[in-house]
Amino acid sequence: KLAGLRICCIGAGYVGGPTMAMMALKCPEVVITIVDISVSRIAAWNSDVLPIYEPGLDKVVKACRGKNLFFSTEVDQGIRDADIIFVAVNTPTKKVGMGAGRAADLTYWELAARRIASVAETPKVVVEKSTVPINTAEAISAVLHGAGKTRFDVLSNPEFLAEGTAMTDLDNPDRVLIGGNMNESGKAAVAKLADVYAHWVPRERILTTNVWSSELSKLVANSFLAQRVSSINAVSAICEASGADVDEVARAVGMDSRIGSKFLKASVGFGGSCFQKDILNLVYLCQSMGLADVAEYFHSVVMMNDRQKERFVSRMIHGLFNTVTGKRIALLGFAFKKDTGDTRESASIEICRRLIEERASVCIYDPKVEADQIWMDLTAATKLDKTEVQKYVTLCDSAYEAASGAHALAIATEWDEFKTLDYGKIQEDMVKPSFVFDGRNVLDHDALRELGYIVYAIGKPLDPKLNTSINC
Ligand code: UDX
Repeated sequence: KLAGLRICCIGAGYVGGPTMAMMALKCPEVVITIVDISVSRIAAWNSDVLPIYEPGLDKVVKACRGKNLFFSTEVDQGIRDADIIFVAVNTPTKKVGMGAGRAADLTYWELAARRIASVAETPKVVVEKSTVPINTAEAISAVLHGAGKTRFDVLSNPEFLAEGTAMTDLDNPDRVLIGGNMNESGKAAVAKLADVYAHWVPRERILTTNVWSSELSKLVANSFLAQRVSSINAVSAICEASGADVDEVARAVGMDSRIGSKFLKASVGFGGSCFQKDILNLVYLCQSMGLADVAEYFHSVVMMNDRQKERFVSRMIHGLFNTVTGKRIALLGFAFKKDTGDTRESASIEICRRLIEERASVCIYDPKVEADQIWMDLTAATKLDKTEVQKYVTLCDSAYEAASGAHALAIATEWDEFKTLDYGKIQEDMVKPSFVFDGRNVLDHDALRELGYIVYAIGKPLDPKLNTSINC
């Protein structure tokens, strides 16, 4: 049924790359071309070292590349040849102008739409893959039809994959959501896309809705997930003040089947490219619709997250006898979660920024994040130039190197390798008393205390040896 179908995806990033690779694997009769204006990004996709790290991705790309999966900078050609065009470009939060700090910046989306309009000669199904504010499909449709010479059907098909598990999420999604117009050509476009997914996703998991429901569902799904993390993090503060244990509370609460046990892991704060951006986007949407109280409700999720990061740094400062100036802190983990090299909105960035502000000496080790990325993140966050940042920050090749001579270890990402480090050996080279601040609750705290460490763990009864004179 799909033989001869040609798909193009504009944007070779975290969403476009893995999604199209999985589609190519599951639909060998469909020819898929991923286009991007970035020459270096496309070259990387065509090389042995892919531009993103995602378990299982390499294998799938290698199996399909050159057969029915192509990476190219020939954007116009890709558009012209395709029946279905996915748009998976960046939609960051606006930095300037109206809605700055909250609204989604649709510049790249609009540019892509204008390109499609000027190049397309035959009818196209245009699919929103990037997360966008609701009503974007309508706006994009206006751009396409205003400037184009052919018919376009715009669909919303949000992506729910999580980084680190992208390939399994894509292989076996909870649901595929396709929103379209309810007119004849809209319905046909929805059916065409549904047929592609039906190659590997059971039909009952392919939901079709109107465009607005689909666009809004993506923002709401991410807001709900983030809200769970902020809720359990709020509980972690109560636990520390009361002597309860957040993991015990999460277990007891999560066993209620109406609540469920997932996404109740207290942490130093959520990060990633989606949660904060999508909530702020929803907040902006509510505000622009005059729903100030709804906006405030969702905004509190982000505020609680900011508070959690600050609480972690405060615990460190107070624990270390009220000053970290000149003290060496080993920051273990810089990615926003394990199994990814992505640092977008990572809690580590804010922790580091605060420690630099306090004039601490921060030694960072992350098994996956590139050095350049760390310097970029820290110069942007501190607004200092690189040489200034380097007065306070050193990058290390191992956790042992970072910890050598340190007053404290701070775990910011839950990398598995941090669980099996030789903490006895590490302590030998640390300043005494040695502290561990476990921002992910991944270590064996009792064993660490036996070794002589003073341990702070999120939402756990406080170590009597920890300076808690100021409540955080
Ligand atoms: C998220 C959504 O899960 C995904 O459906 C959507 O498509 C994109 O955004 P992602 O950003 O890749 O995916 O990461 P996710 O696994 O959801 O984690 C987000 C952040 O929350 C991470 O920093 C993670 O460490 C944190 N988190 C998650 C917690 O602190 N506790 C939890 O219980 C779960």
